Amino acid sequence: MKSKKMIVFALCAFTLIASCKDDKEIKENKIDVLNVAQLQYEALYNTAQDKINLKKYTPRTTKEGKVVYTTSYSWTSGFYPGTLWYLYQLTKEEKWKDRALDYTQRMDSVKNYTGNHDIGFMMECSFGNAMKVNPSKKYDSVIVQSAKSLITRYRPKAGIIQSWNKGKKWNCPVIIDNMMNLELLFHATKISGDSIYYNIAVSHADNTIKNHFREDMSSYHVVNYDIETGETTAKNTHQGHADSSAWSRGQAWGLYGYTVAYRETKNKRYLTQAIKIANFIKKNTKLPKDQVPYWDYDVEINEQTPRDASAAAITASALIELSTYTKGESEHLNWAKTIVNSLSSKNYLAEVGTNGGFLLKHSVGSLPHNVEVDVPLNYADYYYLEALYRLKNLK
Ligand code: GLY
Repeated sequence: MKSKKMIVFALCAFTLIASCKDDKEIKENKIDVLNVAQLQYEALYNTAQDKINLKKYTPRTTKEGKVVYTTSYSWTSGFYPGTLWYLYQLTKEEKWKDRALDYTQRMDSVKNYTGNHDIGFMMECSFGNAMKVNPSKKYDSVIVQSAKSLITRYRPKAGIIQSWNKGKKWNCPVIIDNMMNLELLFHATKISGDSIYYNIAVSHADNTIKNHFREDMSSYHVVNYDIETGETTAKNTHQGHADSSAWSRGQAWGLYGYTVAYRETKNKRYLTQAIKIANFIKKNTKLPKDQVPYWDYDVEINEQTPRDASAAAITASALIELSTYTKGESEHLNWAKTIVNSLSSKNYLAEVGTNGGFLLKHSVGSLPHNVEVDVPLNYADYYYLEALYRLKNLK
């Protein structure tokens, strides 16, 4: 009975996705994505269980056919429990909830982590999702403590949260990815009633608009600040093709981050920013027809140039939420559906039993460092399933 229900549900999900009117290919895409997702994550879960009592136990990617595991303190640690939460929400199979809870609770000590800015990713994708799906007061203090840890990195003169610690190249670097950590701060103010978290999030979002964006609304990856004067001293890249280029995942983080900032503040400035970023991506001449970008919008393209499915998944999920706030609703929504359908095709979706158990193929971690090039990444899967869930729940 359960499996019959699952098949009907998966077919419904497919029909929903296939309703995008302007892509003929989509209608030919007959893959039952939820079934693939369940089978893949069943296999990944089983292999991950062998590691559960070790320090490194969270699956992140594959390298030469083997799954790589990280500690709870890796920036990607929240995506695995987060993906399990989305599998539960999409299938209502209790086993995914039990597994999601287990992996979420294992991350409790991360609430005290102050080593970089990534605690927002880590705790909102795990505990943040737990609180939406399975509300419990016992998690309130985890979120508030995590936000307290994050704001230890606030630099008042510059009005930003420092992303990475001082290193050889930068004293106080802020990366565009940091917009994704603000959701944790908004959440902590809602729980605690203390506006300090909200105000810091707003300050960071405003200064990022001021300092991270170029005239064409693409963004720099890294901006360095002088914490004494608050002035910017350098604008560079770390994972992009060049200082002046538009790193694809960075544009996706910006789009998603300002969409969330609008949701949480209702400040039109953030909505406008999100729309402008979306326009930059959409109008980019190097965006392929299937809407899955190359790893950077400014690289020279040849047959070997890798795509970044993670950037596509993040963009799709952000666009679905953005479409609920904008007059260009159908434009953003249809675009998101096209991306999701491309990702749901055999070009990107793994065949069952392959890809180390991950769902999406063809993402890029950091090409300049030759790390995770054209591989599955756990955050590509997370935002892809989030996009499927958001599509399913559109009114
Ligand atoms: N936040 C790190 C990355 O997007 O690769």
